[in-house]
Amino acid sequence: MKVSIIGGGGLVGSCAGFALQAGKIVRHIHLVDVNQELCEGQALDLLHGASILADQKITSGDMKSAGDSDCIVITAGLRRKPEESRLDLISRNVTLFRGILADLKPTIRKDAIVFVVSNPVDVLTYLAIKELGLPASQVIGLGTVLDTTRLRSMLAQRLDVPPTQVDVTIFGEHGDSMVPIWSAAQIAGLPLEKYPGVNSQLIAEVEKKTRGSGAEVIKKKGGAGFAVGVSIADVVHAIALDQRRILPVSSLQTGAYGLRDVAISVPTVVGRKGVLGVVEVELWPKEKMALQKSGSVLRETIEKVL
Ligand code: 2OP
Repeated sequence: MKVSIIGGGGLVGSCAGFALQAGKIVRHIHLVDVNQELCEGQALDLLHGASILADQKITSGDMKSAGDSDCIVITAGLRRKPEESRLDLISRNVTLFRGILADLKPTIRKDAIVFVVSNPVDVLTYLAIKELGLPASQVIGLGTVLDTTRLRSMLAQRLDVPPTQVDVTIFGEHGDSMVPIWSAAQIAGLPLEKYPGVNSQLIAEVEKKTRGSGAEVIKKKGGAGFAVGVSIADVVHAIALDQRRILPVSSLQTGAYGLRDVAISVPTVVGRKGVLGVVEVELWPKEKMALQKSGSVLRETIEKVL
């Protein structure tokens, strides 16, 4: 599978490229960036490691050269300042993003999967669905996959348990109104609330830390790279291998959880053709209300700017 990363010269895009290379699954990693020199440098740096990692094609080029891609990951966009919300980015990034969509539309394959990472990711995913003319199921956003990854990792650290055995998911906006689904949280298949050392204060602290993670990493190092890179690769691998894993990616909702006409994260079956369906489960009433509030926040933003 050929994966093109628009914005591949930047921190997020290049970390995604490295995560795909280290994952050894996709056949061709192709970087595109407005900063051509930087993009070529990132591709060259990846290529230099190929003989240790995997037999993959690693290239860089212009937007047109992404036209034959099976999957197009869009990471390009301005980063927010630590004190800004992701939705604050909207005015700056919508114009830039519309330009990328306009460049992509004439050349992308009709069966391509478009994977939006740029922020505010839910609004831009919705924009891509409306403007690219592809079936909505072929346009997904990273949504709360990164938030879920962070929450699991930090909860594991607090409880000193293996991060891969922590199972808790975040639905909703990739932003201030995200909704951790504590009602279904488990560690190694055991209910979280009964796990040794777990109490409401610890849960509240880890949730608060997760909500602030994006801003914290921007403040400390200028922006996310490694964790967002592996989160992107995890979704791309579900597409490449048609794994049909259930991931909290952002996609156009048509009624599940009372959500409609908004791109937002709910449990989504992800395979080679993109979104294969969503899974609706019973939530705590406060979780369902918070999820619907999150949907309203995104709908209001969509109505304001799109
Ligand atoms: C983050 O939370 C980039 O929105 C991304 O770090």
